[in-house]
Amino acid sequence: MNTYFRLISFAKPLGIRVPKYILFTLLSIFFSLATLTLIAPMLEVLLGQLEASDLEIYSQKPAVDFNLEYVKHWFYFYLIRWKTELGSFTALMYVCGIILISSLFSNLFKYLSNVELAYIRTNSVTKLRKTIFDKVSSLHIGYFTNERKGDIMSRITNDVQQVEGSIVNSLTVIFREPATIIVYFIMLFAFSVELTLFTILVLPISGWMISGIAKRLKRKATESQESLGRIVNILDETLGGMRVVKAFTARTFVAGRFGQEVDHYGDVNIHMAKRNELASPLSEFLGVFFVVGILLYGGYLVLNGQSELDGPDFITYIAIFTQVLQPAKAISKSFTSIQRGLASGERIFAVIDTHSAITNSPNAVPVKEFKEAIELKAVSFAYEEEKVLKNISLRIEKGKTVALVGPSGGGKSTLADLIPRFYDPTQGEVLLDGKPLPAYEVESLRSLMGIVTQESILFNDTIFNNIAFGLPEASEEAVIRAARIANAHDFIMDMEQGYQTLIGERGGRLSGGQRQRLSIARAVLKNPPILILDEATSALDSESEYLVQEALTNLMKNRTSIVIAHRLSTIQHADEIVVVEKGRIVERGSHSSLLEREGLYKKLTLMQSV
Ligand SMILES: Nc1ncnc2c1ncn2[C@@H]1O[C@H](COP(=O)(O)OP(=O)(O)O)[C@@H](O)[C@H]1O
Ligand SMILES: [Mg+2]
Repeated sequence: MNTYFRLISFAKPLGIRVPKYILFTLLSIFFSLATLTLIAPMLEVLLGQLEASDLEIYSQKPAVDFNLEYVKHWFYFYLIRWKTELGSFTALMYVCGIILISSLFSNLFKYLSNVELAYIRTNSVTKLRKTIFDKVSSLHIGYFTNERKGDIMSRITNDVQQVEGSIVNSLTVIFREPATIIVYFIMLFAFSVELTLFTILVLPISGWMISGIAKRLKRKATESQESLGRIVNILDETLGGMRVVKAFTARTFVAGRFGQEVDHYGDVNIHMAKRNELASPLSEFLGVFFVVGILLYGGYLVLNGQSELDGPDFITYIAIFTQVLQPAKAISKSFTSIQRGLASGERIFAVIDTHSAITNSPNAVPVKEFKEAIELKAVSFAYEEEKVLKNISLRIEKGKTVALVGPSGGGKSTLADLIPRFYDPTQGEVLLDGKPLPAYEVESLRSLMGIVTQESILFNDTIFNNIAFGLPEASEEAVIRAARIANAHDFIMDMEQGYQTLIGERGGRLSGGQRQRLSIARAVLKNPPILILDEATSALDSESEYLVQEALTNLMKNRTSIVIAHRLSTIQHADEIVVVEKGRIVERGSHSSLLEREGLYKKLTLMQSV
């Protein structure tokens, strides 16, 4: 139930939407009821079934009073007058006119109330989408493992959609349907207390049966949404890696994986549908069951003259009663859809309620400049159980270049990730100018750093916007200057639309070297004092590697750099070379001193020079 109210609360601020919705709904109920109630007096008067005593009373104007009887009296009064003065058929036409107008109003107000409802629903769902996206983008890097990506996408799209559907349902269920039922029942009581008590006694039976169906639906709904998340994940991977899929002729394999998950999704949904679809026919049948019951019981009372109801009243009574069944059915149907909405709501809130592992400590201060050094003190780190970094100590002085080298999987990238606080160390601490990183506001800390990795992260936008990413106020000259330093200006100018060229999803229309040079231009423009280069040239062919390497050398001028390099020739001039193996620093020193040691570094160098 908490989930439910939390979802509803996203509709705030509502202003006067709720009162407007309530007013329109009540008016709509009133007019639809009026339409129905006109049937009884019309039949009575036109068929001449009114008792003589009643006829006498109703032929007089009523004394002023404020109750149902007073309204009824006026209506009879006019009916009788129309019939005697204008004839039966004209009276019938008048009544039909009133019924049409009243029904027109009823539906008009229904429309207006539905529009209000659409506003409420859309407001809340839009806010929900924004909230979950804000949250997701603020979460720590470690949250975004590969299995989670599809799941997160699915939560933002499918689950929110599911909630949207069920919120509408539930809002009508909360107010319109119960209000309709209550108003109609008041009317039914006004007709016959005895008969109405009888129906009220049997109604809970159907409620009990329906809720039994809804109960187990939620677990299945969760399962279904999880499966949908995996489907999105497979899709994302396959579409992203289409080249590899085709090259390895792995189409059948991928199709099999996809097929399996889709089959499972289908199974779960069939299972749900079997229950879900039961609710509607069941309530339909129960409805007829009630009507038959009332026909029998009420018919018995009327036929034996044991009830205050006469024939026309009884017909109207049945007519109103069948109308009560509509909202009752709507309620029972929405029970099942609400269960699905709640399952989705819980999945959404699970994301919204995740605490970022990287947060600002309460007394964190913004850091404006980098003055002395970055220092890792006895740092250990584990993603899960196994330690990936073991007792690492390292000092990087301002203005120096430190290179990390070593076999792949040794922990170099992990070490680099600790500096912008993508992760916090499990043991030990990382200091910037003598203070531990959590003492600074994360955003300000990261704004001191520029990062270029092996895969360039580009967005489906223009080249200009990709370079100016995160710096929307960058001037054109600044962007062009950055592109020149990054060896990118020439190839950009060769394109038809220059800086305004769209580069496709993830920069798909560019070569690897071009993408990388855009990433470097982005870093140049940001102009950070600290640079982290994680195998920035590893994925390139030797020609573009040369251009990129030159761009990197330009970028590194006058900065503090942490360079992870696969190709050792590129880091020979680093101030310090640190060799990392299996999470430990095994050697450190300058290029020449390391070569003299005849250790791992020398071995790696020899391997590469062949
Ligand atoms: N997100 C992650 N979750 C769990 N283990 C990881 C993750 N990233 C890397 N690892 C593991 O940590 C170890 C070090 O990886 P990494 O720092 O990428 O090494 P390097 O950059 O030196 O090649 C590897 O054993 C790798 O499998
Ligand atoms: Mg790495």
